[in-house]
Amino acid sequence: MRIILGVSGCIGAYKAPIILRLLQREGFEILPVMTRHAMQFVTPLTLEKLSGNKVISDLFSDHTVEIEHIALARKSGLLLIAPATANILGKFAHGIADDFLSTLYLSIVIPVVIAPAMNVEMWHHPATRENLRILRERGVVIVEPDSGYLACGEEGEGRLAEPERISEAVLNTLRREKSLMGKRVLVTAGPTVEDIDLVRFISNRSSGKMGYAIAREAQLRGAQVALISGPAQLEPPEGIDLVSVRSAREMAQAVFERFGDADVVVMAAAVSDFAPIEASSQKIKKEEAKSVIHLQKTPDILKELARKKQWQFLVGFAAESDALRENARKKLQEKGLDLVVGNDISRSDRGFQADFNQVIMIGRDGNEEEFPRLPKREVARILWDRIETRCARRALREKNKETKEPKLTT
Ligand code: CTP
Repeated sequence: MRIILGVSGCIGAYKAPIILRLLQREGFEILPVMTRHAMQFVTPLTLEKLSGNKVISDLFSDHTVEIEHIALARKSGLLLIAPATANILGKFAHGIADDFLSTLYLSIVIPVVIAPAMNVEMWHHPATRENLRILRERGVVIVEPDSGYLACGEEGEGRLAEPERISEAVLNTLRREKSLMGKRVLVTAGPTVEDIDLVRFISNRSSGKMGYAIAREAQLRGAQVALISGPAQLEPPEGIDLVSVRSAREMAQAVFERFGDADVVVMAAAVSDFAPIEASSQKIKKEEAKSVIHLQKTPDILKELARKKQWQFLVGFAAESDALRENARKKLQEKGLDLVVGNDISRSDRGFQADFNQVIMIGRDGNEEEFPRLPKREVARILWDRIETRCARRALREKNKETKEPKLTT
């Protein structure tokens, strides 16, 4: 596999050849790209000789090499920037494309790992913090810098992480990319809408962001994903089979139809628990309206899935405004889940519309983990890590059981 190594201009660039070598040792081909400033710290000849590939920078005006590089980059497995200056972070975060490296970032859709390096003030500056937040949310993996003696003479955070740690982050990211290959995943997201008449309805404030992030992360890891979504104002992630539904009943039908083929189901949708018994196809006039709307319970999709379940791994959400832990545990039991994600919607000023989530995850075995407030993309990543670990453990248990059980002979 080919990895693009982008080097930007700061003292940490002296580690780029070491990083290049480490990655080569793992069997990767390296395509080096340098910014103009990077060339003040390490010569293009060094990276060219080590990698066996031409180095591209904005100093080169050889368009045939550039075009060739873009074509190769598109066929590469990962873009690593090490070191990444505050300037590069800013450009990537805001889509500024004024040299080859920043243009390349905008023109590829492969995983990106960034190892920043800068002085301690720059690292802690709100602008850098905000750029990092944007990039993380976009799914970029950030290798946090080390703390120590910096080139500016100060001590603190900002020193480029050690090459081993950067190479490890690349390997982990690529491992993650493939870990769900061949798996079929069903994710539900967003609210459901229960019509009262032609214009009025009962719904909730779910934005769908959490479910979409979970679907995207599964797709990044190689799964075949079906995203069953209630009405949400979000762009569906590319390459995902999006099934748009409106009501809880429609969502239930879409889920049940696909459940037989699924390996993992994550019910992140905020499904309405009740729907009007009758929805009028006309707009109900005020004078004719009754003061009471008669409701009926909608199907509890998860409970039904637990009944039908064979090998599938079931994940539910518990959005609670009080007694989070108790309610999440109760839902885990009552809905026959393998894992429940509980989030306290009272803690966020925008409830479950926020871009961040603070969750606890509780497994069937009672094991509980509590996380700080994190971007929903990050929560999605952790969730899939946990699902994968639990599925692997379960598979191992089944295998052990098989080998221990005496085989019947006829
Ligand atoms: N859920 C479901 N079918 C429903 C309602 C909810 O499958 N009719 C799923 C949700 O997608 C979520 C989990 O069940 O994964 C918990 O949903 P939540 O609304 O928090 O719980 P309820 O069971 O509806 O209970 P309550 O509203 O009383 O908290």
